[in-house]
Amino acid sequence: MSSLTRRQLLALGAAGAGATVVGGAGLWWTTTGGTGDTGGADLIEPEVLVSRDGVLELDLIAAAARIEVAGREASVQAFNGSLPGPTLHVAPGDTIRVAMHNQLRVSTNLHVHGLHVSPEGNSDNPFVSIDPGESFDYEFALPADHPPGTYWYHPHRHGHVAEQVGAGLYGAIIVEDHEPVPMTRERLMVMSDLTLDASGNLAGVNQMQQMMGREGELVLVNGQLRPQVTAAPGERERWRIVNACPSRYLRLQLAGQQVRLFSRDLGRLPTPEEVTEVDIAPGNRIELLVEATEGSSALVAAPVDRGGMGGTMRGDNEPGNDEPIRLLTLEVSGNPAPRPALVSQGPALRDLRDEPAVATRTVDFAMGMTGAMGGDRTMMGGEGGDEATTMMTFTINGQEFDPDRTDISVATATVEQWTLTNSSPMDHPIHLHVWPMQIVEDGDRDLSEPRWQDVVNVPAFGEVQVLIAFDDFPGRTVYHCHILDHEDQGMMGTVEAR
Ligand code: C2O
Ligand code: CU
Ligand code: CU
Repeated sequence: MSSLTRRQLLALGAAGAGATVVGGAGLWWTTTGGTGDTGGADLIEPEVLVSRDGVLELDLIAAAARIEVAGREASVQAFNGSLPGPTLHVAPGDTIRVAMHNQLRVSTNLHVHGLHVSPEGNSDNPFVSIDPGESFDYEFALPADHPPGTYWYHPHRHGHVAEQVGAGLYGAIIVEDHEPVPMTRERLMVMSDLTLDASGNLAGVNQMQQMMGREGELVLVNGQLRPQVTAAPGERERWRIVNACPSRYLRLQLAGQQVRLFSRDLGRLPTPEEVTEVDIAPGNRIELLVEATEGSSALVAAPVDRGGMGGTMRGDNEPGNDEPIRLLTLEVSGNPAPRPALVSQGPALRDLRDEPAVATRTVDFAMGMTGAMGGDRTMMGGEGGDEATTMMTFTINGQEFDPDRTDISVATATVEQWTLTNSSPMDHPIHLHVWPMQIVEDGDRDLSEPRWQDVVNVPAFGEVQVLIAFDDFPGRTVYHCHILDHEDQGMMGTVEAR
């Protein structure tokens, strides 16, 4: 094992408790849990574990941890005592072996989000359940032509996913580029959110928040509140950004800088695209190229309207919904650096519109009301004893998740066209394991260039059409809403490729 990082020391309680002020300009916590401004500690990145001779072997311990968050001790859950967990850096063709140890009080498992690997056996199998105190050995073999990019890992035990990801269990996976990209440096930024109570424990989540999808009051970058990074004018940075929030959408803006979108979920765009803002739903990743320009710029998450439950029930679950949230500060100063070389053109993207689709399907995501007692349709406060409450149901094609039922069967080596429809008043970011989706119709969006993602937002009462190439990997896996509370409440289906 390598030496402990500062973060791990903090997790072990080696750093003194009771510190309430961090950073030069200071950050104050009040007893009501509010935060003042931050002086901007430097962004810290998680430990990076790099594969050697085609193999990356590691232990991942999922456990409760005491970690410094926003200037004070917080009780969270973390992989290897660090929030985020270690970054796994591999190359296409590599094998990742993870000995996963469950030291939580409930079952868990591990999913490698976005990796194109087998869903069977001890590979990326979402049906595995690891009991408390137990371990499980995973092995993920990446094909030699695996797309480079930024991916991530997180628990996927149905019923506990939002709780565990929301508590801090996530980490990044980087699959190396085929060709080096000229730049000064790259940074990893894993975005997450959580709410702490006055004693530093994770705040409870009520039923309304579960229905909406929980959003934490603190939006963190690598577990830090409003950290800062510095660069010299003319430098080019590549920012790998993961949206690890259980439900929060991020509309990212970095005013005052020249920003290009280099990658969305997987692979890279043939030509980086100039952007002023990029929306990322829960589960999405992007890579940005930032050409540093003198001055101080804030990376902010602008408000996103992801719908509600009939308009009246948005409630208090969306702190800051009307105001941009500052995530990080970029300070650019000093002597101008020589410009890095131009970024060359990437390979053309596969376009499934040129290949015949053998099947078309409609997959409908819906929310309905049902009484908690006996499943009758009843309104809140109706009869049926002291527990008569109205529950929201989260369904796909009218059914809640059943791990034993196969919802969709597909043939390997074929292309299918799926129409994802949303008959509910909230957006649902839809994710399919193993096989990425090419979006071919999505409102007025310009899709002349192939657009690939593994999480696709389907707007309230809207629809999106995707093409999927089930090239390889026979086996059974899942698709689901990546608002993890919705997934836990049943908005997940199974697909089997034969
Ligand atoms: Cu990021 Cu099925 O998950
Ligand atoms: Cu996934
Ligand atoms: Cu949803």
